[in-house]
Order: sequence, then C-alpha cells, then structure tokens
Amino acid sequence: MTEVKQLVKGLADQHGRTMESLLPILQGIVHQEQHISEDAMVEVARELNISAAQVYGTATFYSFLHTKPLGKYVIRVCKTITCMMHGKNQIIKELETVLKINLGETTHDGKFTLLETNCLGQCHKGPAMLINDEPYTELTPEKVREVIMNYKKKEISAN
Ligand code: FES
Repeated sequence: MTEVKQLVKGLADQHGRTMESLLPILQGIVHQEQHISEDAMVEVARELNISAAQVYGTATFYSFLHTKPLGKYVIRVCKTITCMMHGKNQIIKELETVLKINLGETTHDGKFTLLETNCLGQCHKGPAMLINDEPYTELTPEKVREVIMNYKKKEISAN
C-alpha cells in the first residue's frame, strides 16, 4: 500500500466513511502533507465511495485546504482593513518583485509561497505578515526586502 493510501485509510478509519467525514479527512491530509495531492483526492473518493469531483470541490472550496504543495516558507500577508489602509498592496507588490512570483504562487525552488490572510491581530503595527509562525510588523517595502534576503541567506548557509 502506498503512503497516501495508508494515510487516507487511517483517516477514514478514524473519522468514518460518510460525507461528514470528508472535511476532517481532508484536514488530516493537509496536517500531514501540507497539501492535498490528486492521488490523495482519488484515494479519499475511493474510501468514501463518492466522486473525485466531489472531493475536489470540497478541497478547493475551503481555501485553507491547499491542493498545491506549499513552499518551505509560507508568507501570509494580512489583507484586512487596517493593514490595507497602511499599504499592504505595496508590501505584496514588493514581495512579488523580490520573489518573482504572483500572489498565490510558490517559487520554482519550492522555498517561498506568497498568500494573503485575514487579520493577524497586529493591526496597531500594520502592515503585518507571517512567515510560517513568525510575525513581521510595521512593514515597509525595504523591510520586506531585507527579511526575504535574510531567509535566502539562511537557506544558502544551510546547504
Ligand atoms: S488588520 Fe492586519 S493585522 Fe489586523
């Protein structure tokens, strides 16, 4: 049995094989693999005896259930009102330039994914972003560039 098969089977054993089990199973897959691959979706459909389209529909409906692999560093820029008023668009533009990707994409080397998120509870220090679990606040384009450069340097020295 492949790893994905085994994972899905384990989750189905744990959560059951009804429609209500679909979301917890998908969450379980994301928890384990950080995203839901096509293979995993097919496997879930098989276990629950539903169509792969139903699984795909649910997985893509909930934006937190990623269907594409995420980068090693997931950047989530706050898109909520205070950060928006403090220039989050400029921050995103800078990140897109530095990383050479658009919002929602992952760099070719699989290191960085750029996403938006809702309020991070740092409104008084906006614009704010998270890189994995690390918050960065009072962002300016210059500061963002520096933060990303530091991550890149860290990556080079780790190799
Ligand atoms: S509005 Fe951005 S952190 Fe709250």
